[in-house]
Amino acid sequence: MIKPVHAASADGWVVRDAVPEVDAGTCLEIYAPFVRDTSVSFEEVVPTVEEFRDRIRATIATHPWLVLAIGGRVVGYAYGSQHRSRASYRWAADVTVYVDPEHRGIGAGRRLYDALLDRLRRQGFQVACAGIALPNDASVGLHRAMGFEPVGVYRRIGWKAGAWHDVMWLQLELAPATGDEPPEPSAPGT
Ligand SMILES: CC(C)(COP(=O)(O)OP(=O)(O)OC[C@H]1O[C@@H](n2cnc3c(N)ncnc32)[C@H](O)[C@@H]1OP(=O)(O)O)[C@@H](O)C(=O)NCCC(=O)NCCS
Repeated sequence: MIKPVHAASADGWVVRDAVPEVDAGTCLEIYAPFVRDTSVSFEEVVPTVEEFRDRIRATIATHPWLVLAIGGRVVGYAYGSQHRSRASYRWAADVTVYVDPEHRGIGAGRRLYDALLDRLRRQGFQVACAGIALPNDASVGLHRAMGFEPVGVYRRIGWKAGAWHDVMWLQLELAPATGDEPPEPSAPGT
Protein backbone atom coordinates (compact mmCIF):
# COMPACT_ATOMS: atom_id res chain seq x y z
CA MET A 1 0.00 0.00 0.00
CA ILE A 2 1.48 3.34 -1.04
CA LYS A 3 0.45 5.89 1.52
CA PRO A 4 -0.57 9.32 0.20
CA VAL A 5 2.10 11.94 0.82
CA HIS A 6 1.29 14.42 3.55
CA ALA A 7 4.68 15.47 4.77
CA ALA A 8 4.70 18.42 7.13
CA SER A 9 8.11 19.68 8.22
CA ALA A 10 9.31 21.86 11.06
CA ASP A 11 9.53 24.86 8.73
CA GLY A 12 5.77 24.69 8.05
CA TRP A 13 6.16 23.37 4.53
CA VAL A 14 3.65 20.69 3.60
CA VAL A 15 3.88 18.45 0.55
CA ARG A 16 0.61 16.67 -0.13
CA ASP A 17 -1.36 15.00 -2.88
CA ALA A 18 -3.28 17.48 -5.02
CA VAL A 19 -7.05 17.47 -4.64
CA PRO A 20 -8.48 18.34 -8.07
CA GLU A 21 -11.47 20.33 -6.80
CA VAL A 22 -9.35 22.24 -4.26
CA ASP A 23 -6.03 22.81 -6.02
CA ALA A 24 -6.85 23.24 -9.72
CA GLY A 25 -7.34 27.01 -9.46
CA THR A 26 -4.08 27.75 -7.64
CA CYS A 27 -2.03 25.36 -9.76
CA LEU A 28 -3.48 26.99 -12.89
CA GLU A 29 -2.62 30.47 -11.56
CA ILE A 30 0.98 29.33 -11.19
CA TYR A 31 1.01 27.68 -14.63
CA ALA A 32 -0.93 30.17 -16.80
CA PRO A 33 1.85 32.79 -17.19
CA PHE A 34 4.12 30.12 -18.68
CA VAL A 35 1.53 29.41 -21.36
CA ARG A 36 0.80 33.09 -22.04
CA ASP A 37 4.23 34.67 -21.84
CA THR A 38 7.00 32.08 -22.23
CA SER A 39 8.15 29.03 -24.15
CA VAL A 40 8.64 27.03 -20.90
CA SER A 41 5.32 25.36 -21.77
CA PHE A 42 4.59 24.52 -25.41
CA GLU A 43 0.88 24.82 -24.72
CA GLU A 44 -0.50 27.90 -26.54
CA VAL A 45 -3.93 28.46 -25.01
CA VAL A 46 -4.39 28.73 -21.24
CA PRO A 47 -6.68 25.89 -20.16
CA THR A 48 -9.84 26.66 -18.22
CA VAL A 49 -9.90 25.76 -14.56
CA GLU A 50 -12.33 22.93 -15.39
CA GLU A 51 -9.90 21.55 -17.97
CA PHE A 52 -7.06 21.85 -15.49
CA ARG A 53 -9.07 20.08 -12.79
CA ASP A 54 -9.78 17.24 -15.24
CA ARG A 55 -6.07 17.12 -16.08
CA ILE A 56 -5.22 16.63 -12.40
CA ARG A 57 -7.94 13.97 -12.11
CA ALA A 58 -6.64 12.07 -15.13
CA THR A 59 -3.05 12.31 -13.89
CA ILE A 60 -3.70 11.01 -10.38
CA ALA A 61 -5.32 7.86 -11.77
CA THR A 62 -1.84 6.68 -12.71
CA HIS A 63 0.81 9.09 -11.37
CA PRO A 64 1.38 11.42 -8.40
CA TRP A 65 0.41 15.11 -8.59
CA LEU A 66 1.81 16.85 -5.51
CA VAL A 67 1.50 20.40 -4.21
CA LEU A 68 3.73 22.28 -1.79
CA ALA A 69 1.99 24.58 0.68
CA ILE A 70 3.86 27.15 2.72
CA GLY A 71 1.85 28.76 5.50
CA GLY A 72 -1.25 27.09 4.07
CA ARG A 73 -0.77 28.58 0.58
CA VAL A 74 0.06 26.38 -2.41
CA VAL A 75 3.23 27.80 -3.97
CA GLY A 76 4.21 25.03 -6.36
CA TYR A 77 3.33 21.67 -7.79
CA ALA A 78 4.97 18.71 -9.47
CA TYR A 79 3.57 15.69 -11.22
CA GLY A 80 4.47 12.59 -13.15
CA SER A 81 2.95 11.47 -16.44
CA GLN A 82 3.28 8.77 -19.03
CA HIS A 83 6.46 9.15 -21.09
CA ARG A 84 5.17 7.43 -24.24
CA SER A 85 2.08 5.28 -24.83
CA ARG A 86 3.68 2.14 -26.31
CA ALA A 87 3.69 -0.73 -23.80
CA SER A 88 7.41 -1.12 -23.35
CA TYR A 89 7.72 2.47 -22.12
CA ARG A 90 5.47 1.80 -19.14
CA TRP A 91 8.28 1.94 -16.54
CA ALA A 92 9.27 5.46 -17.66
CA ALA A 93 7.56 8.59 -16.32
CA ASP A 94 7.91 12.21 -17.38
CA VAL A 95 8.18 14.75 -14.57
CA THR A 96 7.22 18.41 -14.43
CA VAL A 97 7.47 21.09 -11.75
CA TYR A 98 6.29 24.68 -11.40
CA VAL A 99 7.02 27.05 -8.51
CA ASP A 100 5.41 30.44 -8.09
CA PRO A 101 7.97 33.23 -8.86
CA GLU A 102 7.88 34.66 -5.31
CA HIS A 103 9.02 31.34 -3.85
CA ARG A 104 11.88 30.36 -6.13
CA GLY A 105 15.43 29.71 -5.02
CA ILE A 106 14.46 28.62 -1.49
CA GLY A 107 14.32 24.88 -2.06
CA ALA A 108 10.67 24.50 -3.11
CA GLY A 109 11.46 22.74 -6.39
CA ARG A 110 13.84 20.35 -4.64
CA ARG A 111 11.27 19.59 -1.93
CA LEU A 112 8.59 18.80 -4.50
CA TYR A 113 10.94 16.64 -6.57
CA ASP A 114 12.23 14.76 -3.51
CA ALA A 115 8.64 13.73 -2.76
CA LEU A 116 7.64 13.14 -6.40
CA LEU A 117 10.64 10.97 -7.24
CA ASP A 118 10.18 8.98 -4.04
CA ARG A 119 6.55 8.33 -4.95
CA LEU A 120 7.40 7.31 -8.52
CA ARG A 121 10.09 4.96 -7.21
CA ARG A 122 7.64 3.36 -4.77
CA GLN A 123 5.10 2.86 -7.57
CA GLY A 124 7.73 0.90 -9.45
CA PHE A 125 8.71 3.35 -12.18
CA GLN A 126 12.32 2.77 -13.24
CA VAL A 127 13.25 5.95 -15.09
CA ALA A 128 12.19 9.59 -14.78
CA CYS A 129 12.45 11.79 -17.89
CA ALA A 130 12.35 15.57 -18.21
CA GLY A 131 12.08 17.64 -21.37
CA ILE A 132 13.13 21.28 -20.95
CA ALA A 133 12.59 23.98 -23.57
CA LEU A 134 15.84 25.91 -23.79
CA PRO A 135 17.08 28.20 -22.45
CA ASN A 136 15.95 27.46 -18.88
CA ASP A 137 18.93 27.61 -16.50
CA ALA A 138 16.77 27.16 -13.40
CA SER A 139 15.12 23.98 -14.64
CA VAL A 140 18.35 22.50 -15.99
CA GLY A 141 19.99 23.45 -12.65
CA LEU A 142 17.24 21.78 -10.63
CA HIS A 143 17.28 18.59 -12.67
CA ARG A 144 21.08 18.36 -12.56
CA ALA A 145 20.98 19.01 -8.79
CA MET A 146 18.52 16.09 -8.45
CA GLY A 147 20.88 13.77 -10.31
CA PHE A 148 19.32 13.82 -13.80
CA GLU A 149 21.79 13.18 -16.61
CA PRO A 150 21.49 14.93 -19.98
CA VAL A 151 20.43 12.63 -22.81
CA GLY A 152 20.37 14.98 -25.79
CA VAL A 153 18.74 18.00 -27.39
CA TYR A 154 15.95 18.05 -29.97
CA ARG A 155 16.80 21.00 -32.21
CA ARG A 156 14.06 23.49 -33.24
CA ILE A 157 11.41 21.02 -32.15
CA GLY A 158 8.83 23.60 -31.08
CA TRP A 159 7.66 26.94 -32.53
CA LYS A 160 6.26 29.41 -30.04
CA ALA A 161 6.01 33.18 -29.80
CA GLY A 162 7.66 33.71 -33.17
CA ALA A 163 10.72 31.54 -32.65
CA TRP A 164 11.97 27.98 -32.81
CA HIS A 165 12.93 26.30 -29.55
CA ASP A 166 15.22 23.41 -28.68
CA VAL A 167 14.24 20.88 -26.00
CA MET A 168 16.82 19.23 -23.79
CA TRP A 169 15.97 15.79 -22.40
CA LEU A 170 17.38 14.46 -19.15
CA GLN A 171 16.80 11.19 -17.33
CA LEU A 172 17.22 9.77 -13.85
CA GLU A 173 17.49 6.09 -12.96
CA LEU A 174 14.94 5.53 -10.18
CA ALA A 175 16.03 1.93 -9.61
CA PRO A 176 19.15 0.02 -10.60
CA ALA A 177 18.80 -1.91 -13.85
CA THR A 178 18.74 -5.70 -13.61
CA GLY A 179 18.46 -8.30 -16.35
CA ASP A 180 14.96 -9.28 -15.22
CA GLU A 181 11.64 -7.80 -16.25
CA PRO A 182 10.63 -5.43 -13.43
CA PRO A 183 7.28 -5.73 -11.65
CA GLU A 184 4.46 -3.72 -13.19
CA PRO A 185 4.21 -0.15 -11.91
CA SER A 186 1.39 0.04 -9.39
CA ALA A 187 -1.46 2.54 -9.36
CA PRO A 188 -1.21 5.35 -6.80
CA GLY A 189 -2.69 4.38 -3.46
CA THR A 190 -2.74 0.62 -4.12
C1 LIG B 1 12.75 25.31 -12.22
C2 LIG B 1 12.12 25.65 -10.89
C3 LIG B 1 10.98 24.67 -10.64
C4 LIG B 1 13.16 25.54 -9.79
O1 LIG B 1 12.48 25.63 -8.55
P1 LIG B 1 13.13 26.37 -7.28
O2 LIG B 1 12.21 26.15 -6.15
O3 LIG B 1 13.47 27.75 -7.60
O4 LIG B 1 14.47 25.51 -7.09
P2 LIG B 1 15.20 25.21 -5.70
O5 LIG B 1 15.30 26.45 -4.90
O6 LIG B 1 14.55 24.03 -5.06
O7 LIG B 1 16.64 24.79 -6.20
C5 LIG B 1 16.98 23.42 -6.41
C6 LIG B 1 18.23 23.38 -7.24
O8 LIG B 1 17.99 23.95 -8.53
C7 LIG B 1 19.08 24.79 -8.89
N1 LIG B 1 18.56 26.06 -9.36
C8 LIG B 1 17.47 26.69 -8.93
N2 LIG B 1 17.34 27.86 -9.59
C9 LIG B 1 18.40 27.96 -10.42
C10 LIG B 1 18.82 28.95 -11.35
N3 LIG B 1 18.12 30.08 -11.53
N4 LIG B 1 19.93 28.71 -12.06
C11 LIG B 1 20.64 27.56 -11.88
N5 LIG B 1 20.29 26.60 -11.01
C12 LIG B 1 19.18 26.81 -10.29
C13 LIG B 1 19.87 25.10 -7.66
O9 LIG B 1 21.22 24.91 -7.93
C14 LIG B 1 19.35 24.17 -6.61
O10 LIG B 1 20.35 23.24 -6.27
P3 LIG B 1 20.70 23.01 -4.73
O11 LIG B 1 19.43 22.56 -4.04
O12 LIG B 1 21.74 21.95 -4.78
O13 LIG B 1 21.16 24.34 -4.26
C15 LIG B 1 11.56 27.11 -10.86
O14 LIG B 1 12.58 27.98 -11.22
C16 LIG B 1 10.37 27.32 -11.78
O15 LIG B 1 9.23 27.08 -11.39
N6 LIG B 1 10.66 27.80 -12.99
C17 LIG B 1 9.61 28.08 -13.94
C18 LIG B 1 8.87 26.83 -14.41
C19 LIG B 1 9.80 25.83 -15.03
O16 LIG B 1 10.72 26.18 -15.77
N7 LIG B 1 9.51 24.57 -14.74
C20 LIG B 1 10.24 23.47 -15.30
C21 LIG B 1 9.63 23.10 -16.60
S1 LIG B 1 10.71 21.94 -17.46
